[in-house]
Amino acid sequence: MNAKTPIVGAVDELRRYVRARRAAGERIGLVPTMGALHAGHLSLVDAARQAADRVIVTIFVNPAQFGPNEDFARYPRTLAADVEKLCSVAADLVFAPSVDEIYPPGFSTKVVLEGPATADLEDRFRPTHFSGVATVVTKLLNQAQADVAVFGEKDYQQLLVIKRLARDLDIATEILGAPTLREADGLAMSSRNVYLSREDRERAKQLHGEMSEAARHILKGENIGAATGAARDALTVAGFEVDYLEARHAETLAPVSSLAGGPMRLLVAAKLGATRLIDNIAVQS
Ligand code: PAF
Repeated sequence: MNAKTPIVGAVDELRRYVRARRAAGERIGLVPTMGALHAGHLSLVDAARQAADRVIVTIFVNPAQFGPNEDFARYPRTLAADVEKLCSVAADLVFAPSVDEIYPPGFSTKVVLEGPATADLEDRFRPTHFSGVATVVTKLLNQAQADVAVFGEKDYQQLLVIKRLARDLDIATEILGAPTLREADGLAMSSRNVYLSREDRERAKQLHGEMSEAARHILKGENIGAATGAARDALTVAGFEVDYLEARHAETLAPVSSLAGGPMRLLVAAKLGATRLIDNIAVQS
């Protein structure tokens, strides 16, 4: 059994820890999360460990990134279980601040975004989401002053938004993406999968299935609109309400019309009942 991973809730304590480790010549890795941890998160801890001597995991369900009709109140909060899991992968510190620690009375600043945050994907359906993400991530990066921070490719548009903001705001922390972990049937691991009913969980595997099929067709030379349209139709027939399923340039998220335009990514968001799932895959052989 690993020693228990310590938890701190105050920015001062986090900074003291980072200063001490730095003074000992160590590199710091940061893994920001909203908790409800699963194997996908633990793989981010492993990725951070490859790039740093110490790994700090933040757990904060950030109210600013939820829209008024979204699942902030019911988002799973499982701190004790999360800390157990983090002990099992030997994370070095958990930073679990309160809402007041992050947004004290009088807090009045927001990060305003363009570029990948306005690609007409998630932003079309969650117009205030990325500003909330960017504001909290900017704060966490400033608070921790880590050498590297790791984010999952599962939230692909978010990853590009964070890379862009770190470059634009001269944040010294290197931002790394880590691959999506999937269940045996292909469903991307997500804290929101627990919302799915048994039937919807069975159906949910088709999201990755149809995306993979569309990618195969595109790689064989099929028209991109036809391939993504067929995937959208198949998901709709299977009972999904598809918000978007699109092929985009993997670095800029600009719409693409052929593989010759550079690396391509397929991105999807679709609802099964009240549960909204997002996923993405690279189109590559
Ligand atoms: O991806 C998440 O879990 C969140 O959006 C993040 C990056 C921790 C910011 O709250």
